[in-house]
Amino acid sequence: MQTFINIDSYKINIRRSTGALVVGKPGFGKSVLVSCSMLKLMSIGAFPLIADTKRSDFYALRKVLDSSDNKKKRVAATPNQVAQMLRVLTEFMNARYENHQEHWGWDWVDYNLRPIVVVFDEFSATLSEADKPTANEIISYLKQIIFKARQMGGIYLLLASQRLTADVLERNISSEFSTRIGMQNLDRISLNLAFPGCDLNEIPIVENIPGHGLIYDDHFNTMIPQPFIAPDMSEVDVPKVVKHLNQKFQHNDFLHEDYWPW
Ligand SMILES: Nc1ncnc2c1ncn2[C@@H]1O[C@H](COP(=O)(O)OP(=O)(O)O)[C@@H](O)[C@H]1O
Ligand SMILES: [Mg+2]
Repeated sequence: MQTFINIDSYKINIRRSTGALVVGKPGFGKSVLVSCSMLKLMSIGAFPLIADTKRSDFYALRKVLDSSDNKKKRVAATPNQVAQMLRVLTEFMNARYENHQEHWGWDWVDYNLRPIVVVFDEFSATLSEADKPTANEIISYLKQIIFKARQMGGIYLLLASQRLTADVLERNISSEFSTRIGMQNLDRISLNLAFPGCDLNEIPIVENIPGHGLIYDDHFNTMIPQPFIAPDMSEVDVPKVVKHLNQKFQHNDFLHEDYWPW
């Protein structure tokens, strides 16, 4: 099973990873990088779930991914829908774990389970839009999902957020992301949260151009984030590629799961 994707010249292994956190101000290139990473993951068979309560770029994918029948929704456009989608996902991951315990230490690759990519665009905006109970519910599911990503894997989060402060994402959650990316130059608070354990003076300065940023990954042999340039996606028709990949993997060679909810 293919478990690597490339970001610029960096190889990211989604096996034994929780996901990527992408931080940056509006217009710095978060959504472009996330959409590109999502397509790369879909091309190795990952099943996408999307949260976009700002109803911007990713919201358009509902036409491709969600049918009007009673199936569980894959594109969430309000905080309530996000909470509901994450609840279904958490229950699904529990069922997965219940059904695959016979081999000690096996993960999703060993069991040949289909990976799931959860795209969460504008995370901080969703939390500030949500009422307190819904925001807490979303955070609680995210923590469980990250835990399950560590446990058996097969679930990869792509979470983009404008701001990163301790109240948006507690430090103990942000450091759980195995890949952390800052687009262009971040403020010191965000830098500290995105790249903890790293002397701010050691962090390279990158060009203030959309798509330029810094990347850290647990599998790199340094704590210092490295400069990278995200691919330009302006010539790519993202919904069209999503539609194609969605159809391509409708019938696939992953293990069949009776409890599959979507
Ligand atoms: N990797 C890139 N290469 C070239 N241009 C980019 C790149 N990423 C972003 N851009 C440009 O910047 C704009 C804003 O990017 P976007 O991903 O929507 O930002 P954000 O989601 O951070 O607000 C894009 O519409 C595009 O014109
Ligand atoms: Mg965006």
